[in-house]
Amino acid sequence: MIHYKSPSEIASMRESALLVSRTLTEVAKMLKPGITTLQLDQLIAEFIRDNGGIPSFLNYRGYPFNSCISVNDVVVHGFPNERALQAGDIISVDIGVIKNGWHGDHAYTFAIGDPGAEIMQLIRVTKESLYKGIEKAVAGGRVGDISFAIQEHTEKKYGYGVVRELVGHGLGKHLHEEPQVPNYGRRGTGAKLKEGLVLAIEPMINLGKKEVYTERDGWTVRTADHQPSVHFEHDVAIQKGKADILSDYSIIEAAEKGNPHLFTAQDSPVLVQPQ
Ligand code: MF3
Ligand code: CO
Repeated sequence: MIHYKSPSEIASMRESALLVSRTLTEVAKMLKPGITTLQLDQLIAEFIRDNGGIPSFLNYRGYPFNSCISVNDVVVHGFPNERALQAGDIISVDIGVIKNGWHGDHAYTFAIGDPGAEIMQLIRVTKESLYKGIEKAVAGGRVGDISFAIQEHTEKKYGYGVVRELVGHGLGKHLHEEPQVPNYGRRGTGAKLKEGLVLAIEPMINLGKKEVYTERDGWTVRTADHQPSVHFEHDVAIQKGKADILSDYSIIEAAEKGNPHLFTAQDSPVLVQPQ
């Protein structure tokens, strides 16, 4: 069953999404070589709790940490650990909160130092694909329109691997609601997009092949070819017929630009697009 939200419920959900954005902004300020992802996880939990939220991933289906921090060839659901981050790493930080009963859930991929132009392009293109998907999140459309837009921009245009095993989802009183939002698919197919629908749209895009596997810890998803993977996620409501992005990358991006240890797409040359 799909749960549609009223304007006042969406206003509450915006608060939850913004708490995640603000937490990711704190992460963007802290990131530097030498810091461990476990330190980041502690900081994340503290910031969320200090701001009236609960880290929603902790204990979700037995998940043992506050956040998912996925480095390099880890696609998603990486466990925070004691390894120090180093220049050239890319890290996806995925955070969920419950605030006033409503979930916020989104993610951002950062580059520490320069991982090279090829990987910076993967980061740029994955983020672009998220916005191309969001453009299709309008009343009267279908979930498949979003899926197709993401796949077109990443797989068709750049030859990247679109992960099939993991998908975006509805968001609300529960972390995972209907409908599923795959990052691949056909236009005009899937659930109808209607007023009040709130979606977490989250392309997970591999530099190499699309295949992934789950480690024996039951969570950590890695690329089969051990090439890097990038993940961006926004929370999006359909309001007044259009896509209304509840989460806010602008504050994260400002912190990213202000952090001399982080590389951004603007710091890197645009490669020639493969045909
Ligand atoms: N953002 C992810 C998702 O939507 C992470 C949730 S997995 C969890 O599926 F177990 F850590 F909660
Ligand atoms: Co999600």
